[in-house]
Amino acid sequence: MTLAPASYTQVGQATRRQDGPAKVRGEARYAADWHFPGTLHARLVVSPYAHARIVRLDPAPALARPGVVRVVTAAELPIKPGSSPSRLRNPLALDEVTFYGQPVAVVLGESEAAAEDGAAALAVQYEALPVAADLESSLKPEAPSIRKDSKHSSNVANRIEFKEGDLEAGWREAAVVIEQTYQLPMVHQGYLETQSCLAVPERGGLTLYPSVQTLFRTRREVAQALGLPMSKVKIVLPEIGGGFGGKAVLLEPLVAALALLTHRPVALSFTRAEDLAAANPAPACKIYLKLGARQDGTLCAMQARFWFNNGVYPSAPLQVVGFMLGHAYPVSNFEIEGQEVLSHRVGASSYRAPGVPQYVFALESHLDAMAQALELDPLEMRRRCQGTQASESFRQVCERLEGTPLWQNRRHKEPNEGFGLAFGQLVTCLEPAMASCRLEDDGTFALVTGVADITGVSTGLAQIAAQVLGVETEQVAVVVADSDSAPYAGDSGGSKMTYNLGAAVYRAAQEAREQILHIAAEKLESSPDDLELQTGQVSVRGTPSRSLSLPQLASATMNYEAAFTPVCGQGRVAFTDYPVGFFAHLAHVRVDPETGDVAVLNYLAVHDVGFAINPAEVEGQIHGGVTQGLGWALYEGLVYDEHGTLLSNTLMDYALQTARQVPPIQTELVFVPSEEGPFGAKGIGEPPIVPGAAAIGNAIFDAVGVRVYELPATPERVRRAIKGH
Ligand code: MOS
Repeated sequence: MTLAPASYTQVGQATRRQDGPAKVRGEARYAADWHFPGTLHARLVVSPYAHARIVRLDPAPALARPGVVRVVTAAELPIKPGSSPSRLRNPLALDEVTFYGQPVAVVLGESEAAAEDGAAALAVQYEALPVAADLESSLKPEAPSIRKDSKHSSNVANRIEFKEGDLEAGWREAAVVIEQTYQLPMVHQGYLETQSCLAVPERGGLTLYPSVQTLFRTRREVAQALGLPMSKVKIVLPEIGGGFGGKAVLLEPLVAALALLTHRPVALSFTRAEDLAAANPAPACKIYLKLGARQDGTLCAMQARFWFNNGVYPSAPLQVVGFMLGHAYPVSNFEIEGQEVLSHRVGASSYRAPGVPQYVFALESHLDAMAQALELDPLEMRRRCQGTQASESFRQVCERLEGTPLWQNRRHKEPNEGFGLAFGQLVTCLEPAMASCRLEDDGTFALVTGVADITGVSTGLAQIAAQVLGVETEQVAVVVADSDSAPYAGDSGGSKMTYNLGAAVYRAAQEAREQILHIAAEKLESSPDDLELQTGQVSVRGTPSRSLSLPQLASATMNYEAAFTPVCGQGRVAFTDYPVGFFAHLAHVRVDPETGDVAVLNYLAVHDVGFAINPAEVEGQIHGGVTQGLGWALYEGLVYDEHGTLLSNTLMDYALQTARQVPPIQTELVFVPSEEGPFGAKGIGEPPIVPGAAAIGNAIFDAVGVRVYELPATPERVRRAIKGH
């Protein structure tokens, strides 16, 4: 965009988060912190079976407990059936359960304790049915059908195929061919705040206080599920304790239905165990990859097959994985096939860059092995693969990496230490967005948006507006409005807030600026072109004595008989061009060859972010994403037994890292500006999680000469790879 970097006083400055103090002091109000008189507390009764018929459900013992008001089952919910099977339209099992932890009934009590007592007393009798919880058993011809309502004969819900060139001819050109199968488990997004929602009946409709990253989508889903007009459903966004893709509507239709049914406010929060068992984790994935390279390192042939185990409902990112496998590096001949397989597990959904860490783990591990076989340096291998197609972003990321001490010193390592490199590239989502920017009496600005702030992006938005308006960032207050009053914007996700919404904010601020200059021009009897707006003053260029402050200008619009219209700028965008952005991670590990334990000693993340609006927050995103990537690489995984029972349903068993396990993370920011992002910025929300597993895998190989093809790379798996058994 237009300003020269040297003139930036607000954007590009490391700026403290505006939401920080309230969160640190415990004043921020999350969904479960809202209280209304007469609220009923909901507790779920969940299935201990992955697949079973509900033989009998007797509410009497629950209703006999003091404080229990009502027991609700599926048949009573005022929710309309959807056109396709969906968890949102079927929040309670009707007569059959299809995953461990599936809610079968809700107990409503006057207190949380009463509801919990009631749920424990409720008697449900099940008849166990055959289970297919993993890919292999679900794909067997004799496997039980996961969805009886599905149009498919097998448990394959969706299938894609990408083909290009002549595969046989491709193999003939290859100097080296390697084939391998990679596997990644289901993982949970690991947000600290569990799924939570409060619904309050009012105005003949409902107001919801949900923990979601999707304002307008939540309203749409709830209104459609309950058959209410949009005007009768209002969504208020509380502060949110993490989303990472997992908070895109889940409990809201259920809680809204309970409030409609009882005419009382209803609150429901998942317990940690319920959240681990019954929310919407990332799908498990298996990728078979056979890749051929010419002697010069360019790729000539690829055959890939991959499968997502998506649990009981379809939603797997087949397109992204299929397309990116064939196009991340140019390969002239390929055949790629992907399948989405259903199973008796909880329905999977989005997690930070859905599908991307999965394909990158396979492809970047594979390229490392190819480089080894061709006796090429791993960075040189990627350069050769990109070849003449290499973008400016890729080239600058490579150069920055080469300049770092961690890269330069990688050969001076102790025994059992290793360095692993892996690349990734931005897969930004595009979605229209709008924002408005209003001048207040006191010369500050209200920047009104309709998006949940899941990442601290609000402070960056304030910086963008402040830069355009010639004020300090603190003079811009970001207001997250409710669905009745907010300017429309899409979901918070897809690495698109700064890129899309930030551009709308830029335009809104520009429009407000033009309105201000127009008013000042009349009052100062000057032309708008001769005016400058800075440090909260509009003055005639070269004549600083002829000036007006922003409060003076505001009062010319906000009083009886004031002659000027109120200042309010609107910005709207609907982008169609995807920004190009590369990143490279370098992991330094030490492997204990006896125990198989992997210690991450250092970690470097080089990201092209176009431009860093708030470098401190960009760094924070990288630290968080890298940590989640390392979790996937080394520790995390939802573990199911052959009966589909989740074994890791507490945080004692599901190994989220603690702060102590997180290595020093060094960040390097590269700025290759985007065409449309504000000040050239690109997204940074999702990318940092992406290359972690491949970088760690490649580092393990560099340390001890073996590869782990199944994540997480636990000590047991690493030790088995080293010992060969
Ligand atoms: Mo995301 S997985 O678009 O929050």
